[in-house]
Amino acid sequence: MMGAMSYLADWDGQLPASVELPDGIVLTVRELHPSDEPALRAWFATLSNRSRYQRFHGHVAELSPAHWRYLTRIDGIHHVAVIAFCEGAVAGIARMIRLEQHRSAEIAFLIDDELQRKRVGSLLRDVLFVLAKSRAYRTLFAYVLPDNVAIRKLLAGTNTADRGNVLELAL
Ligand SMILES: CC(C)(COP(=O)(O)OP(=O)(O)OC[C@H]1O[C@@H](n2cnc3c(N)ncnc32)[C@H](O)[C@@H]1OP(=O)(O)O)[C@@H](O)C(=O)NCCC(=O)NCCS
Repeated sequence: MMGAMSYLADWDGQLPASVELPDGIVLTVRELHPSDEPALRAWFATLSNRSRYQRFHGHVAELSPAHWRYLTRIDGIHHVAVIAFCEGAVAGIARMIRLEQHRSAEIAFLIDDELQRKRVGSLLRDVLFVLAKSRAYRTLFAYVLPDNVAIRKLLAGTNTADRGNVLELAL
């Protein structure tokens, strides 16, 4: 295994990457593969209703086979997803899907309940931003529920406009 980097300070933009979070958690981050579908489905079943609700904006016990195909048969160009593992188990996932509007994409995050508030989301956010810039995106949009404080904090910054159910980030 490659040496774990301290957060993203010395990340060269290449995936897979091994990253150590501030409290010592070591994550491996790589692009999602279609073959990850069974592991993702099993992981999804372990998540709290709250996390699934915040991610999919509704009570979602299970996703349809078509939805799983959409989430995992991705091209890595128009639809990019990065997955983080902690000791071999899924820790979280983040994705970026190109929108029709010029140089813009939608982003979404889902972090394991046990690992929330440990900066896994911050790491995947930073990885996505690097990938977005390398693809010359200028604007990222996140669709969020009104009470989702965590995602608002995750994406807060001087370049973020909070439009209620949409956060708009200028890169
Ligand atoms: C939203 C989410 C991705 C955040 O990921 P995370 O790994 O828990 O976030 P981090 O630990 O990196 O924390 C990022 C910031 O959010 C804050 N935060 C995280 N969870 C929080 C919570 N429940 N309440 C208040 N603040 C919270 C942290 O304090 C941190 O703030 P800071 O940078 O000012 O210190 C994660 O909670 C999640 O997957 N939620 C369910 C799915 C979801 O809501 N997706 C968003 C819609 S796309």
